[in-house]
Amino acid sequence: MKRSINIDALTRPTIQAMQAYRSARSEFVASDREMILLDANENPFETGLNRYPDPMQTELKERLAKVKAVEPSHIFLGNGSDELINLLMVAFCEPKEDEILLVPPTFGMYQVSANLNGLACVEVPLISGFQLNVSEILAQATDRTKMIFIPTPNNPTGNRFPMKNIKAIVAGFPGLVVVDEAYAEFSPGETAIDWLADYHNVVVLQTFSKAQGLAGARVGMAFAHPDIIGVLNKIKAPYNLNVLSQQAVFDRLDNADTVASEVQLMLKEKGVLVSKIQQIRLVKEIFPSDANFILIRVDDSQLRYKQLIDKGIVVRNPSNQYACENTLRISIGTAAQNKALIAAFKTMDQ
Ligand SMILES: Cc1ncc(COP(=O)(O)O)c(C=O)c1O
Repeated sequence: MKRSINIDALTRPTIQAMQAYRSARSEFVASDREMILLDANENPFETGLNRYPDPMQTELKERLAKVKAVEPSHIFLGNGSDELINLLMVAFCEPKEDEILLVPPTFGMYQVSANLNGLACVEVPLISGFQLNVSEILAQATDRTKMIFIPTPNNPTGNRFPMKNIKAIVAGFPGLVVVDEAYAEFSPGETAIDWLADYHNVVVLQTFSKAQGLAGARVGMAFAHPDIIGVLNKIKAPYNLNVLSQQAVFDRLDNADTVASEVQLMLKEKGVLVSKIQQIRLVKEIFPSDANFILIRVDDSQLRYKQLIDKGIVVRNPSNQYACENTLRISIGTAAQNKALIAAFKTMDQ
């Protein structure tokens, strides 16, 4: 089965009608020839950063295209996935009219961006084992539902959803399905990037913030049909990815072996942490994790969260989320950090 969609028809009329800003640097395509750049009112004296970045990040996209086995025209880069989530809503969802569909418990920024953009959120909670309720998701989507957000592995639960369930949603829904693969490197397997040729309504998000170790650089990637990428290019801020961040990504790609061994270490540490946490009595449940964090259920999350803070350890308390009562979400740290966490739990266990 395939799904091709009319991206023009999905795009907000205001966005279709507008003219994109043409930045000085977007009118000139870099070539090997040495050019005298007098087009952007920059300071001509070299600081390493006195020139604007390439607005289209051409070189970086070419490099990423090879890594991800897609065409550069399928890639959009932004200031973290957060920017991409917001731009998708700006491009395709009409404020006060359209809605997005979420599958709680889920990543909080979808709701925040929806609120910012004046969009209602339809919620179809996960079912037992934190799994997608595929039939209900398709049943709840209306004419006004423009986008469904599915993070896999999911945050805060940590589990991956079966790809066949996500594909059933992609195949059955006429709007955009945003498959957020922020934690993909921690449980490599099929990626929705492989569906782009057949399903034009898929947008895949990945990030340099998690396994790639560049949360401070703020670099997010969207992979989608070139028509979708075209709309995002039209509405983005001209220089939305700065020179330093692009350089940091090149450096990290040059050191892919280091990233891979860090991921292996984190996974090994996750195993150690889970085996130690199992022995802590105040921990009632450990949910299966395909990511670099674990969700645990404790006797009293508010109390344990505060006690950990007192001991200098910060975890996340997602207990106000659907089906997450008395849970804590814990990122996998270094061996020493994880050991400190276990030691802290042991003192609380007495
Ligand atoms: C599912 C998911 N998507 C996206 C992000 C944010 O990624 P970025 O740092 O690229 O904005 C997070 C961060 O916690 C996340 O859990």
